[in-house]
Amino acid sequence: MSKFPYFEYHNTKLCVESVPLDRIFREYDTPCYVYSRSALIAAFKEFDSAFAERDHLICYAVKANSSLAILNLFAKIGSGFDIVSGGELQRVLKAGGDPKKIVFSGVGKSADEMRAALIANILCFNVESEVELGTLNQIASEMGKIAPVSLRVNPDVDARTHPYISTGLKENKFGIPFVEAEKLYTSSKNLTNIRIIGLDFHIGSQLTELAPFTEACKKMIGLLDHLEEESFQIEHLDLGGGLGIRYFEENPPSAQSYVEALCSDIGHRSQRILIEPGRSLVGNAGLLLTRVEYLKHTDHRDFAIVDAAMNDLIRPALYDAYHEILPVNINDNKIKNYQIVGPVCETGDFLGHDRKLALVKGDLLAVMSAGAYGMSMSSNYNSRPRAAEIMVDGDQTHLIRERESLEQLIFNERTLPL
Ligand code: LLP
Repeated sequence: MSKFPYFEYHNTKLCVESVPLDRIFREYDTPCYVYSRSALIAAFKEFDSAFAERDHLICYAVKANSSLAILNLFAKIGSGFDIVSGGELQRVLKAGGDPKKIVFSGVGKSADEMRAALIANILCFNVESEVELGTLNQIASEMGKIAPVSLRVNPDVDARTHPYISTGLKENKFGIPFVEAEKLYTSSKNLTNIRIIGLDFHIGSQLTELAPFTEACKKMIGLLDHLEEESFQIEHLDLGGGLGIRYFEENPPSAQSYVEALCSDIGHRSQRILIEPGRSLVGNAGLLLTRVEYLKHTDHRDFAIVDAAMNDLIRPALYDAYHEILPVNINDNKIKNYQIVGPVCETGDFLGHDRKLALVKGDLLAVMSAGAYGMSMSSNYNSRPRAAEIMVDGDQTHLIRERESLEQLIFNERTLPL
């Protein structure tokens, strides 16, 4: 199978499903994000079918890509959602997501966000500290509601990923320290407006091995046993997200082997299994299409200055992340070693270093694996309007987000009266 199924060359043209990317450029201009509907569905189905008969719920981690059309597509094929803010809650509801399939994660839920989620009757709050649990109890009591809760336990395992996206070590801000979890579960029995229904962990993102997941699962099962002895009715185990994808030469486990490993770790237990995948559902289902504005030669380097920048895709600048960059039309020009950079006034504004490409001004490039944490982390830095987003379905293209206009950029701003 090709590295990026649904994104393949037909003759010399890179296509998304059956649409050549140069057609997308002519219709929608650049920079723009382009997604394959089939790739999104295939990624979801691979997780879903691997659970076979086991009771489960896939809660797509909205932060990876929160565009309404993507949320709507996942809602239609049965997905639940993992949210981390009131804004994400609003998006999921607007996109037709079922509130009874929403879990609410995050270390700093505000009172207003808790209220909105209680009104919506979500499936579960993943609570990350004793003070948060107390606040939720208080708010639920004021509203005459009972809040369904999992405690997010920090199992203190090393996810062996980039330090910025590793969350399951005891020095990280996330979750309840493993050694304190049982005590907090026990004391939660005194909180009248909290109903404990689950157990949750999430240890990090872009994990390329199964071992840390298995280690975390084993610790959680030990805790589950104790809780059951204390007669807690644990209805579900939320095993978080974090499965990595292939950006370059990584070789992460497939969704199928990941799910099978989790199911075997949980063994005969009857609890429903929840997972919260983000990147692995959308990452390789999207690319960022950009156009070469200028080729600039200096004594030291060749730069290709493109019309997408760190405000569109911050991952290279923020994590030194590698994204493959492919020519949209293959040509016979001379190959050179290019630094692919954007127009933003920072040296950190690059999309790729040392890429061997044959380029002329105006060429189109596809920055691959950009479906996750691309658009959702984009900004207006340098007062650059946010890119358009296009969903491809077979030979059809759909504009799912218009390019932001210059008027929209300053719409909420005011100058002083004098
Ligand atoms: N659940 C929780 C509680 C999370 O914090 C996250 C991601 C996920 C699920 C989904 O993880 P995934 O399956 O996508 O790995 N901006 C970074 C990634 C940050 C991940 C934050 N939490 C990046 O671009 O690599």
